[in-house]
Amino acid sequence: MATRDAVRPIAREEILRQQAIAREIRERPDRPLTYHLVTYGCQMNAHDSQTLAGMLEEMGMAPEADREKAGLILFNTCCIRDNAERRAMGNIVFTRKIKRVRPELLVGVCGCMAQQEGFQERLSRRYPHVDFSFGPGEIYQLPQRLLDAMEGRREQAFRRGEDSTLYEGLPILRSSPFFAYQTVMYGCDNFCSYCVVPLVRGRERSRELKQIVSEAQRLVDEGVQEIMLLGQNVNSYGRDTGGPRFEDLLRALGQTGIRRLRFMTSHPKDLSDELIAEMARNPAVCPHLHLPAQSGSDRMLAAMNRRYTRDWYLERVRALRQAIPHIGLTSDLIVAFPGETEEDFEQTLSLARQVRFDSAFTFIYSPRSGTAAARLPGRIDPEVARERILRLIALQEDITREVLRGLVGQTASVLAEGLSKRDPGQLTGKTGRGIACNFSADPDRIGQIVPVLITGQGSKTLKARQIEKENP
Ligand code: SAH
Ligand code: SF4
Ligand code: F3S
Repeated sequence: MATRDAVRPIAREEILRQQAIAREIRERPDRPLTYHLVTYGCQMNAHDSQTLAGMLEEMGMAPEADREKAGLILFNTCCIRDNAERRAMGNIVFTRKIKRVRPELLVGVCGCMAQQEGFQERLSRRYPHVDFSFGPGEIYQLPQRLLDAMEGRREQAFRRGEDSTLYEGLPILRSSPFFAYQTVMYGCDNFCSYCVVPLVRGRERSRELKQIVSEAQRLVDEGVQEIMLLGQNVNSYGRDTGGPRFEDLLRALGQTGIRRLRFMTSHPKDLSDELIAEMARNPAVCPHLHLPAQSGSDRMLAAMNRRYTRDWYLERVRALRQAIPHIGLTSDLIVAFPGETEEDFEQTLSLARQVRFDSAFTFIYSPRSGTAAARLPGRIDPEVARERILRLIALQEDITREVLRGLVGQTASVLAEGLSKRDPGQLTGKTGRGIACNFSADPDRIGQIVPVLITGQGSKTLKARQIEKENP
C-alpha cells in the first residue's frame, strides 16, 4: 500500500507528455471518432468523467449517446457496493456483442473497480474484448493507455498503477456553465470497517490551497455561480500537508466572489467548531451539510470504526443548528451491518427521527473484500435486511415530507439551472439548502440565483414562484 512519502504530484512534464500523445492520436485516421462514457458511483467519479471527457475531446472525439454506434466505450466504475459492481460488469460484458459486429470498437474500463487488487489482470484474461484499463489515480494517462490499446500493447494497456497521485492542469468538460466541481483532496485515511474507498483511492492528499483558489477564480470569471468542493472527507483537508485547514480554504474561496459553495463529504468526527463558525460567517457557504451518520447505535458505530458516538453526532447537529438555524442536514445510513440487532436498528430509526434529515441515502450493508468488516461474524439474513431498509426508507420519506411542508410559505433562493423537464413552462434548480425546486420565472433568469416564495411541495421537491427579494 502506498505510504504518504509516495504521494507525488504529477510533474508538469508528464502532463505535457500525455498532451503530446493526445495530439498524436488526434492526427491518426484510425482513432475512434466518437466516445460513449458510462459513469457509476459518486460525485468524484462524475468529476473524473468530466476530466476524461475533456481529454477525449482534446483527442478529437465527439460524444455519442448511442453505445451501439460509438467508436470508444469507456466505463468509469464504482465498487462501493456489490450492486454497483454487478451493474457495471453486466454492461462491460455486454459490449462483447457490439464488438462482434464492429471489431474496431475500443472498450476501456477505469474507475474504482479497476484499482482493486487483481482486477485488471482478471479483466484482461477473462474479457479479451476489453482493450485497456486504469485506476482512478491514472486518469491523466488516458492518452497513453488509448495509444497502447490502439497499437496492441496489451500488457501496458492494463498496467496497474499507484493510487497516490495528485494531478493538476487536466482539461475538463463541465456539464453546466453555472456549476462546477472542484476536488480539494484525494483519497481517504479513515478506514471505516465496511468501506473499500481507502483501498482504491489511496491515502489522503490535499491539493494546494493556491491551486484551488486560482482555479475557482477562473471559474467565477467564466460565470460559474456554484462550486461543489469534493473529497471523501473534506474536513481533514490540510491534515496531510500541515498547511491551511478546510475552514481556511472556505474563507479564501469566499473572496473569489463565488455566489455558492457546497462541499462533500464531511465526517462527523472531524467537524470542528472552527469549521462551523466559518460556515455560519461565510455568505457563500450554502445552508446545507451532508453529514453521514451511518448508524444510530454506539455498538455499530464502534464496529464500523467511525470513531464517534451517537451523542457526539447529536451534539454536532445541535452546534450546527445553533450557528446556522436554517441549515438542512442530509445523511447516509447503513442497515444490516454484521451483528446489527433489532435494538441497534431501532437506534438508527430514532436517530433519524431525532435529527430530522431533509433526506438520507439508505444502504444495505454490502461486504467488500479486503475490508475489516468482511471478516466479521453475524451476517444479517437478507430478508431481515430488506425489511429494515424498507422501514427506514418509509420513516425518512415521512420526515422529508414533513420538512418540506414546513418550508411552504417561506422564501428561498434558487440557482435556476434550466427548464423543468416535466413542465417546460417552469424553471428548475436547487435551493441553498439543496432541495430541488420547480418554480415559475422568466426563462432569461436561467443561470442566476432567483429569490422565490415556496408555494407547495411534492414528495421530494418544492414548488415556488419568483419574487422581488428574499426575506432575510
Ligand atoms: N466518504 C464519504 C462517502 C463514501 S461512500 C463518507 O465517509 O461519508 C458513500 C456511502 O456509501 C457511505 O457514506 C456509506 O453509507 C455507503 N457505503 C460505503 N461502503 C458501504 C458498504 N460496504 N455497504 C453499504 N454501504 C456502504
Ligand atoms: Fe469510506 Fe469512511 Fe473514508 Fe467515507 S470516511 S470514504 S465511508 S472509509
Ligand atoms: Fe464508488 Fe469510488 Fe466513489 S468506489 S462511491 S466511485 S470513490
